[in-house]
Amino acid sequence: MWGGRFAEGPDALMARINASISFDQKMYAQDIAGSLAHAEMLRDTGIISSEDHAAIAGGLETIRGEIEGGTFTFSTALEDIHMNVESRLAELIGPAAGRLHTARSRNDQVALDFRLWVRERCDIAGELITELMGVLLNQAERHADTVMPGFTHLQTAQPVTFGHHLLAYVEMLSRDASRFADARKRMNLCPLGTAALAGTGFAIDRHQTAAALGFDGPTRNSLDTVGDRDFAVEYLAACAITATHLSRLAEELVIWSTPQFGFVGMSDRFSTGSSIMPQKKNPDAAELVRGKIGRITGSLVGLLTVLKGLPLTYSKDMQEDKEGVFDAAETLEVCLGATAGMIADMAVKPDAMRAAAGSGYSTATDLADWLVREAGIPFRDAHHVTGRAVAMAEERGCELAELPLAELQGLNAAITDAVYGVLTVDASVASRTSFGGTAPDNVRAQITYWRESL
Ligand code: ARG
Repeated sequence: MWGGRFAEGPDALMARINASISFDQKMYAQDIAGSLAHAEMLRDTGIISSEDHAAIAGGLETIRGEIEGGTFTFSTALEDIHMNVESRLAELIGPAAGRLHTARSRNDQVALDFRLWVRERCDIAGELITELMGVLLNQAERHADTVMPGFTHLQTAQPVTFGHHLLAYVEMLSRDASRFADARKRMNLCPLGTAALAGTGFAIDRHQTAAALGFDGPTRNSLDTVGDRDFAVEYLAACAITATHLSRLAEELVIWSTPQFGFVGMSDRFSTGSSIMPQKKNPDAAELVRGKIGRITGSLVGLLTVLKGLPLTYSKDMQEDKEGVFDAAETLEVCLGATAGMIADMAVKPDAMRAAAGSGYSTATDLADWLVREAGIPFRDAHHVTGRAVAMAEERGCELAELPLAELQGLNAAITDAVYGVLTVDASVASRTSFGGTAPDNVRAQITYWRESL
């Protein structure tokens, strides 16, 4: 493509370090769509003839068919997807192929192809996240009343409902989805026509190509357009945050499905066995969702590192932008799907959750609150009295609700029989009616909210 200036071909190692076709062939559909829009615009502006346009468009459709039919031969010598397609076009239609690259460069071409690719992945991520949210909502609805221990420091803190716990992930995921939508909005300007870096002297119509490719308009600065990849960074950041959330849910599934917790049973479909220990059922899918965050966050840091310190505009370093993004997309998508599968399939064990919720003095805060409300004691004092009650129960090896009234009254004379009403886990969760709290009625209201907004 540039033979005019060169006397020698590239060294074999140069070809190896330089070529991107092994991975950027993933963008063949975007490359062809961009070329079709560009050729049409060149025709409409009178830059190429209708005959040449017809030949180019026909040839590009043939190439698409060849690639999708698996008969296209990708060549490393032709470096990347752009040159592979253009070279094949020349074989198919002859000299007219050479007119397609008028007012265009691989620099705006690659900026376009990659943007189109990432834009589509933003949409896919949004859809998969919405599906996962739907699955979580179904389980949350079934378990709006199911009591479980709520944790801080992974120590029993206060009883909550399992529905409420699952809705916490619905909240996280909704923010994740909005991050993809937001990144998509910002990246939705068309690079085509910025050419190598400075724009072009041909009387092209960038608004036409932008509209044809579903963009809100053309990008405004040619140097920025060919020289930045922050749209990909934003996509990776959204992937990394989503994957972080998934890893936390996955970790909870791992913990909950241990025999020691026994809060949920993972389905056979998302578990594996052990080749030596016949009793084992391992939550491998959850562990992999937990583990795959590494490569996604790695891709984010990788691309930030590639871009750091690059002078404007395009440098070949930027070819290193793609593999991490491709891998992150594939990884995130499989993680979202597997998580939805695990959540839909999991067998929830309300009895085990309830038993755990009632242990560990989980209603101690309710006792302290009762002392504030009914006996008019300042909260700090009530906290102290309750702490002594917990110590007493620990010594006797019983739960708070099993302490005799006389013992409690020994701690504070204002305590009456009525205190036992607040010491059950059901009373505890039912009392948490503040907006955003765990009371079952709140949970049902939140589910209605989410069903309507989805
Ligand atoms: N394969 C290149 C990339 O992915 C395309 C752009 C090449 N441009 C250039 N001036 N060498 O970045």
